[in-house]
Amino acid sequence: MTKPQIDSKEFRNALGQFATGVTVITTLDKKGNKAGMTVNSFSSVSLDPMLVLWSIAKTAKTFDAFNETERFAIHVLNAQQQNVSNQFSSKADDRFAGIEHTEGHGGVPILADYSAVFQCEIESRYEGGDHIILVGRVIEVDNKVQPPLVFHAGQYADLDLPVAV
Ligand SMILES: Cc1cc2nc3c(=O)[nH]c(=O)nc-3n(C[C@H](O)[C@H](O)[C@H](O)COP(=O)(O)O)c2cc1C
Repeated sequence: MTKPQIDSKEFRNALGQFATGVTVITTLDKKGNKAGMTVNSFSSVSLDPMLVLWSIAKTAKTFDAFNETERFAIHVLNAQQQNVSNQFSSKADDRFAGIEHTEGHGGVPILADYSAVFQCEIESRYEGGDHIILVGRVIEVDNKVQPPLVFHAGQYADLDLPVAV
């Protein structure tokens, strides 16, 4: 196996060149407490069956909740939700404070605001180095068609995209 001569900062900076949308993923832990985090590793996988994936750091404080749950909801954030992205990636004790939400399948928190939401059941989990890859089977979807929140090179990017309906 070739050992890479790559410094970890250089690796992160190169990864940051891949512009992504931003999601907040929510679930309930085993005790029924709400958990959520900001995630940009979201990706589509399969159309039939409908599968999506994302990865979570084993060191994340919400790791146990997502490693044990059978369900989660992926909210694609719109351009106005930078504050929501910041709150769900912060050290705040209650990341849901001040954020309107209801309950979806299995009581999983569903944010009131999003440009799309995918409610999922766990299809599979895979080891991915210092992350776990979660594959979700989509059981319900909603799409509000709004301008996206975009993340690039460690910053939110201001894009003024035309929105097709
Ligand atoms: C734009 C953005 C995308 C992120 N994507 C991921 C991700 O895909 N997976 C992950 O484990 N953490 C991701 N994070 C980090 C988490 O949201 C969170 O900040 C991190 O887990 C630190 O909080 P904690 O350790 O207290 O949970 C992302 C953060 C930001 C701001």
